[in-house]
Amino acid sequence: MKILVTGGAGFIGGNYCLKMTEKYPEDTFVCLDLLTYAGNLETLAPIMDRENFRFVKGDIRDRAFIDELFAQEKFDVVINFAAETHVDRSVEEPDVFVSTNVMGVQVLLDACRKHVVKRFHQVSTDEVYGDLPLDRPDLLFTETTPLHASSPYSASKAGADLLVLAYYRTFKLPVTISRCSNNYGPYQFPEKLIPLMVSRAMADQSLPVYGEGLNVRDWLHVYDHNTAIDLIVRKGRVGEVYNIGGHNEKANIEVVKTILKQLGKPESLIHYVKDRPGHDLRYAMDPTKLVTELGWQPEYNFDTGMAQTITWYVENRGWWEHILSGDYKEYYAKMYKDRQ
Ligand code: NAD
Ligand code: TYD
Repeated sequence: MKILVTGGAGFIGGNYCLKMTEKYPEDTFVCLDLLTYAGNLETLAPIMDRENFRFVKGDIRDRAFIDELFAQEKFDVVINFAAETHVDRSVEEPDVFVSTNVMGVQVLLDACRKHVVKRFHQVSTDEVYGDLPLDRPDLLFTETTPLHASSPYSASKAGADLLVLAYYRTFKLPVTISRCSNNYGPYQFPEKLIPLMVSRAMADQSLPVYGEGLNVRDWLHVYDHNTAIDLIVRKGRVGEVYNIGGHNEKANIEVVKTILKQLGKPESLIHYVKDRPGHDLRYAMDPTKLVTELGWQPEYNFDTGMAQTITWYVENRGWWEHILSGDYKEYYAKMYKDRQ
């Protein structure tokens, strides 16, 4: 099989490429990425010379370029990880979220139709369902929960999901969608909660916890997200949505305290700051369909996954220090200036 992996220089797509090029030596993987602030070729360095891997720099919104690439490469499968992904950035600058996350997906869908791709897989998120109340632990998102997005980021991802399903219904394009809960693991850009807190705690800097730190996220190791995507692409039913999650709900403050404990740093580093506007209270996934239909099981629980992840950031300081010494410094100063 020839597989196009869009957004493969980012966190989840990068981890996908590192694992799957090794797991499937008989398949060819073409990674297409625009290398925005979130894309990092250092992540892909270990596989750049592999025979079954090729990197192409390009924009999923560029119709002519995408058409030519599809004509040349004749992909069997397209897995779309490419997106703008940070909620706080979407509050500051929604335009690029609609442009990449909605319009870019439409360009890919049209190319899949024209070049008769056998499967288009859209990597989506639990955030399309909106949020759940904190005092109803019995409620979980299922695949039939109505879409109820809160942020420009989640609204753009919900828009993409609707387009993907419309191309299935209208044009019979063979699509699947996965909606996963919050991911953590190696190679995550240090603007997201876990790598941000680990890198700042290691430098004895203050840890900016939004509001009272009571918002709940359902955490899954990136490795387990990618094994689920792989199963869905190879064995999932066309036209279907699959939720992915491992029942690991944690309040943000618990996550931050877990990090401080493993690093041996004091809780006095915690600094409560102004809340995110429209901040979703709680996410919680019901992955029953994926588990019963495709037999997926996560390998990590929260304790083993966090221990592995924190150790990775400690041992791979160079990877995130290169990012923190660049443009990201300005981003942090701008975004956290008014939260003090
Ligand atoms: P990321 O921000 O780390 O990576 C996104 C990648 O997409 C980057 O390499 C970037 O350069 C690339 N990209 C952005 N715009 C592009 C464009 N126009 N053309 C080509 N490439 C472009 O994101 P991530 O955390 O790896 O997320 C990957 C996917 O998984 C996204 O679709 C996201 O919505 C979804 N998702 C993420 C999480 C999570 O917790 N991180 C959870 C569920 C779903
Ligand atoms: P984030 O990693 O941005 O993921 P998402 O918003 O997509 O769930 O944030 C995870 C949670 O952590 C979210 O409730 C917001 C909170 N948060 C903080 O408290 N402080 C921070 O500096 C950041 C980036 C996030």
